[in-house]
Amino acid sequence: MSGKFYITTPIYYVNDQPHIGHAYTTIAADVPARYWRLCGRDVRFLTGTDEHGIKIVKAAGREGITPAALADRVVVHFRDLWERMEIGYDDFIRTSQERHKNRVRELVRRLIDRDQIYLGSYDGWYDEDQEEFVTENSARESGYKSPISGRELVRHTEESYFFRLSRWVGPLIDHIESHPEFILPATRRNEVLSKLKLGVEDLSVSRQADKLKNWGVPMPNDPGRSVYVWIDALSNYVTALGYPPLGDTEQDLFARYWPADIHLIGKDILWFHAVYWPCLLLALDLPLPVTVFAHGWWLNQGRKMSKTLGNFISREEIGKICAEYSPDYFRYFLLRSVRFGDDGNFSPEQLREIYNAELANGVGNLLSRTVKMVEKYLSGTIGPPPPEGSSREAEVIVRARELIEKSPGWMARLEFQAYIGAVVGLETAANRYIEINKPYRLAREDPASPRLAEILATCAEAVRIILIYLLPLMPEKAARGLETLGVDYGGAGEAILPARWGGYRWTRPVKKGAPLFPKQPV
Ligand code: ME8
Ligand code: MG
Repeated sequence: MSGKFYITTPIYYVNDQPHIGHAYTTIAADVPARYWRLCGRDVRFLTGTDEHGIKIVKAAGREGITPAALADRVVVHFRDLWERMEIGYDDFIRTSQERHKNRVRELVRRLIDRDQIYLGSYDGWYDEDQEEFVTENSARESGYKSPISGRELVRHTEESYFFRLSRWVGPLIDHIESHPEFILPATRRNEVLSKLKLGVEDLSVSRQADKLKNWGVPMPNDPGRSVYVWIDALSNYVTALGYPPLGDTEQDLFARYWPADIHLIGKDILWFHAVYWPCLLLALDLPLPVTVFAHGWWLNQGRKMSKTLGNFISREEIGKICAEYSPDYFRYFLLRSVRFGDDGNFSPEQLREIYNAELANGVGNLLSRTVKMVEKYLSGTIGPPPPEGSSREAEVIVRARELIEKSPGWMARLEFQAYIGAVVGLETAANRYIEINKPYRLAREDPASPRLAEILATCAEAVRIILIYLLPLMPEKAARGLETLGVDYGGAGEAILPARWGGYRWTRPVKKGAPLFPKQPV
């Protein structure tokens, strides 16, 4: 498949350490990025950190350090975790970088030039944890507390610049209604539409700079005020591509990759991405992203795991899981155990069960028994498998074909569970095929039978296809499995997806290694 693919994660606040929620979104973006790269698409994957705003200023103040020092310290934890998690991003943007700040200033200048911003005064509630303005009605409904973190809302009264958000609500509703793929999953789209139809006020887009200890991007027309942190943050999706152009080298990226194919986010920040951001783009006369996908939350006793509540699976705990299993399995588990879009509860029992069932006894076992038999009975050499129409191999081939044909759709819709389910389905069929065809018995009774080579070639072909489709999910494990199987792939930048039954010629023998997924004690 050709065509570009631009995917982004939220840029994360640096007030505290990364946790499972951040890992979840970032892994879920890395998987399609890897998948489409293997298909030969021109992929751009952006992540980064959101370093301005009152939340960071206060966190730094509590530690008695500057916001810049806090950001410099915490950003390292994000980068380290992404390295551990095998996140193959193409760019990591920090909002404190000059390349970003200069472009935010220019972007706001363009909005002012287009009469999209005016001076007014704000008097209302602010949720410092969400960095979000809250209407009187919703503030009253939530008892003047943040509905997400439970923290007290803050009264906020000052002269401020406003973005003419209300002007764009009509065109935005039209766009959402005529583009069913714009906000996914569909339930989220309906929520946004009904809230929009209740009416939306203009958005305050500046704060007094001194209240933020001058940490932020000054308004281009009024340096005593800073650009509202969400305008600053949302802009990262284009500033990282060099928009607006400032005469340096990054500009061609915008023409090449914008609009984004997927902004991947958690549902906590859907309103910003499905309303503020598209309206800003409309006001700048820029194309809208194709899809804003809002996934669910990891919960702890029914509440969102968060830094504020301190009820999350931490970086350290993730480290322990990775040491006990592997970073690859952590990636697999997050996308396997909960349907993408839904909320989920993290369960250590399930962590073990899925591992043993699908990897230790599943894929790992299939690989090791295949390699062992090929070594023992065929001196390590694998020939061509029976052709696709072969009826004796039908149950395996049907499963392989399903995976091959349906995976692009699943990946395009981020239906990771269905994708993994089909991989596991092929593994189950291949393991069952071994039980039914008993190559070990054939080897004893009739070692020269050509059928023996056919059966083992079928197993090898099934496990080759399984491992290739696992590459986006478990890059390290799948690559090691393919090495064991004697498969060379992806040379000279060729696309290796979609796979094809019988589409590979083995040129080197299998090479038995340590088990890919050692069994975990129950
Ligand atoms: O909101 N379950 O940053 P943030 C699932 N800086 N995902 C979770 C999660 C959970 N319990 N907790 C966090 C911000 N996430 C802004 C974004 S973008 C222009 C600016 C994930 O550090 C999820 O992706 O609070 C959520 O949207 C994001 O982390 C919020 O990270
Ligand atoms: Mg948050």
